[in-house]
Amino acid sequence: MNTAAVQSRAIELPPLPYEPDALAPVISANTLSFHYGKHHKTYVETLNKLIVGTEFADMPLEKIIKATDGDAERAPIFNNAAQVWNHTFYWHSLKPKGGGEPPAALKKMIDASFGGVDKFKKELSAAAVGQFGSGWAWLVLDGDKLKILKTGNAQTPLAKGPKPLLTVDVWEHAYYLDYQNRRVDYVNALLDKLLNWDFAAENLGK
Ligand SMILES: [Fe+2]
Repeated sequence: MNTAAVQSRAIELPPLPYEPDALAPVISANTLSFHYGKHHKTYVETLNKLIVGTEFADMPLEKIIKATDGDAERAPIFNNAAQVWNHTFYWHSLKPKGGGEPPAALKKMIDASFGGVDKFKKELSAAAVGQFGSGWAWLVLDGDKLKILKTGNAQTPLAKGPKPLLTVDVWEHAYYLDYQNRRVDYVNALLDKLLNWDFAAENLGK
């Protein structure tokens, strides 16, 4: 086996879908550079160190997450793999000049499930703010219904079944440089100005 082949199978840090200053002023270039260039990158590097020479070395990322979920002995692999996936999903859940109204088919489902976009945002904001400590808030498709979930630390709905459509990172590293302890201000600004409805619609397949 040559070295190039081994290296090509390492989990890679996907590129950011926009420039680091593209989400300012809601998320500053400083926050984004640290979050992507230090936190996300470190999860990728740590995961690659943990899986080298193991049964997980050649697995796609999603398969690693599903194979290690709930396995206490494999918790470090799960935590780093899930954080790699969650962060990539988070970058795509945001876009410059986002927010506003969802595309028609998704809007119909949001209206049916939450009673309108504003009520959906309130509910997602409450989940994000109410997550004790580090974690994530999600819009997911569960069967044929849209639901809001929150997960702690690296936990991800991907491992359990409901299909993730959007996520908000509520680890302090996502907002502390810009908002200090005001998580609610970060979440509400993000929902109003950065939410990538097109990405949610793509994930929904509508
Ligand atoms: Fe994060």
